Amino acid sequence: MVFIGIDTSTTSSKALLIDEQGNVLAVSSSPHTLQTPKPLWSEQNPQEWWEAVAASIRAVLERAGLRGEDVAAVGLTGQMHGLVLLDGDGRVLRPAILWNDQRTQSQCDEIHQRIGKETFIRITGNVALTGFTAPKILWVQENEPDVFVRARHVLLPKDYIRYKLTGAYAMDKADGAGTVLFDLQKRDWSDEVLAALEIPRAWMPDTYEGPEFTGTVTEEAAALTGLKAGTPVAAGGGDQAAQAVGMGVVEPGIVGLTVGTSGVVFAATPAPLIEPEGRLHAFCHAVPNQWHFMGVMLSAAGSLQWYRDTLAPHMSFDELLAEAESVPAGSEGLLFLPYLTGERTPHPDPLARGAFIGLTIRHSRAHMTRAVLEGVAFGLKDSFTLIQNAGLGTLTQVRASGGGTKGALWRQILASVLETELVTLNTTEGAAYGAALLAGVGAGAWPDVLSACQTCIQIKASTLPDHVQEAQHRSAYTQYRALYPALKESFHKLSGV
Ligand code: XUL
Repeated sequence: MVFIGIDTSTTSSKALLIDEQGNVLAVSSSPHTLQTPKPLWSEQNPQEWWEAVAASIRAVLERAGLRGEDVAAVGLTGQMHGLVLLDGDGRVLRPAILWNDQRTQSQCDEIHQRIGKETFIRITGNVALTGFTAPKILWVQENEPDVFVRARHVLLPKDYIRYKLTGAYAMDKADGAGTVLFDLQKRDWSDEVLAALEIPRAWMPDTYEGPEFTGTVTEEAAALTGLKAGTPVAAGGGDQAAQAVGMGVVEPGIVGLTVGTSGVVFAATPAPLIEPEGRLHAFCHAVPNQWHFMGVMLSAAGSLQWYRDTLAPHMSFDELLAEAESVPAGSEGLLFLPYLTGERTPHPDPLARGAFIGLTIRHSRAHMTRAVLEGVAFGLKDSFTLIQNAGLGTLTQVRASGGGTKGALWRQILASVLETELVTLNTTEGAAYGAALLAGVGAGAWPDVLSACQTCIQIKASTLPDHVQEAQHRSAYTQYRALYPALKESFHKLSGV
């Protein structure tokens, strides 16, 4: 049996084929474009996702030398929180409003006002943030009433792909919780929240646990993708939950650390635990009857990418990082705030801004590079500390993944800043890999998600903290913690609000 995982991310759609031992047989991806028609806006055309998915499935089958009938099941994942609105005939009504769109602060305030912030946190496990889906629906209601009046279905990006593949309106519970229209404990839509926000219950799809099948590939989708009509499609999960499955972060004690464009600290929870102030996201896991905490930093490796592209475009990442190795921990008093696209955890503030603080004439490019790596690590420590204090018991292992953890220097800084061992894994394909595992569990290749992970995921390498650096980082981190509160007002004024 082989399984396909499909990840519709912000930059591309990827299809990945695995066998029953978890070996990756082939991978293929096709890019998407992103539109930012106004400041703070971030949109995509769902049709582009579908075309990219169909092309990737065809390519991955061809690369592996397999036919559609060889595929036992498909699992879906993708960027979370994006709003896809369809009319009664399944037609897309407007471009999808994405997870990194920041236009909805006033709708977030309105949600807290209508429901009461404490009640909202108690039901959904979260505060309303601009990234999430619920405020986006309100934004359309208030700003595009002609669109809103024609709306009949609310989907998330990967569920639009599901609709195109199977004709079914369905969603997994992990991504459902990320809309913040979910009752976290019930693992289903909250009638109370939907009613208070005047969103019809009938617009919301049925929700399923990650490995459950939600429908089968239609003849039309089979013709476009090369899959066989009738192939089952598993619910899957939002990209962070599926990524956690792909890293084996499916039992208490293990923490996932993903340093991609955004940075994520993720821990599975056996019950719907909530951080009382809503500073951590608390969603359903893609593992049946598990939940999870998550801290999200918006610009992690994205900060390094920006820095390289803007200040050293002629240099490779390897060259930049090699230069930074000679700089001592703490970057000789230079700090970097990584809030280049606003922030979520621990400062839910779309108007937070990036900064280098403490520059002197002695600081070189190498110091600035190291300060970027450290600033991102400090931001991740904020989330890590919240998770450590959330009552989960002892955290025994941190599993690292994402482009940012490929280089030894950044791994060393992360281990020393978090004061913990970091391990890396044999699987580096992230969310698409997790989605393929969920499809395999649905098809009966493994009895449950934990066994799938135990069969397929192994530890490859480990990085230990450097105790001398630990102390230097601790003191720099204290200074870092003081900066956002001190600068918040200036950031807001600078953003023109
Ligand atoms: C998670 C989140 C991002 C997107 C990126 O809450 O918003 O990780 O899912 O694809």
